[in-house]
Amino acid sequence: MGVTILAIESSCDDTSAAVLRDGFILSNLIAGQEIHMAYGGVVPELASRAHQANIVPVTDLALKRAGVAANEIDAVAFTRGPGLLGSLLVGTSFAKGFALARRIPLIEVNHLQAHVLAHFILEREKENRVPSFPFLCLLVSGGHTRIILMKSHLEMQVLGNTIDDAAGEAFDKCGKIMDFPYPSGPLIDRLAAAGNKNAFRFAKPHVKGLDFSFSGLKTSFLYFLRDRLKEDPDFIEKNKADLCASLQDTIVTILMTKLVKASQLTGIREIGIAGGVSANSGLRNALVREGEKRGWNLFIPHFSYTTDNAAMIAIAGYYKYLRGEFTGQDVVPLARF
Ligand code: KG4
Ligand code: ZN
Repeated sequence: MGVTILAIESSCDDTSAAVLRDGFILSNLIAGQEIHMAYGGVVPELASRAHQANIVPVTDLALKRAGVAANEIDAVAFTRGPGLLGSLLVGTSFAKGFALARRIPLIEVNHLQAHVLAHFILEREKENRVPSFPFLCLLVSGGHTRIILMKSHLEMQVLGNTIDDAAGEAFDKCGKIMDFPYPSGPLIDRLAAAGNKNAFRFAKPHVKGLDFSFSGLKTSFLYFLRDRLKEDPDFIEKNKADLCASLQDTIVTILMTKLVKASQLTGIREIGIAGGVSANSGLRNALVREGEKRGWNLFIPHFSYTTDNAAMIAIAGYYKYLRGEFTGQDVVPLARF
């Protein structure tokens, strides 16, 4: 029989467990935490408590759905960081305990590396197109915005990074200004579909090289609405769709401008997106348009592998397993990796 990996992801507010055999995903379960919606953002203490309540049932179900017994697992992969320390501690401790009890290797995974490696997850009875190297990936999530050059499965170079907020934060913080629930990205995406993207203009940053900045956009959005609301207290309600469409278009343009530049600088046309914001339909459409124009070979992840999930931790763990990269029981989680 092949290599079977159990993976645990608990870096933020999703508790996830997955089982993967020889690169093929057998199960991928995610328990989200709705409790944070009322607070307009993730409350770390509540997140770690929910992880503690969820981790055993989620893992149990992931094994059952995969049809795999605990004694068939060859190694346990877990997210070591980056993320919320209390949340990471729950997943790390659980993975350590499982590995110790079963006397199997423990594999630490970098959450960001895993988001990019999601493109290599294989699914049974599917065509399974995977990128070849070198591969350029735009990683856009709630905590990170990076352009990553992948030279091999485990060799990555960061070409560009945000100097302040992440793209997902721009969606969420602007959503908060409009009194939307957290996380606002998916709702802005839905409302934008019925809006005019040229209705309003917001500041675009001038950042050198391949780096990004989103804090100026948030401020520009805030001041714009503050002025409009003085004239008309119902301005947001009346212009919701246009505000979302214009905001989304600004974020997508900022991202695409740097991705195009990265492709031109490196000569790489094997291109993909990853992370929570890669679910955004405006970004997906822009990528397809740009890809057709520039002859890119595009990789857009399945929706279930965009936001946080253990399947991506499992595939990263699998490649580390093949290289014999194991972790000791003395490992500690890292909020910043
Ligand atoms: O990767 P992820 O699940 O967690 C982090 O590691 O940060 O990303 C979550 C982020 C949130 O900011 C959320 O608003 C955003 O992804 N997001 C979206 C969409 N779906 C999720 N942003 C824009 N459009 C979407 N459809
Ligand atoms: Zn993530």
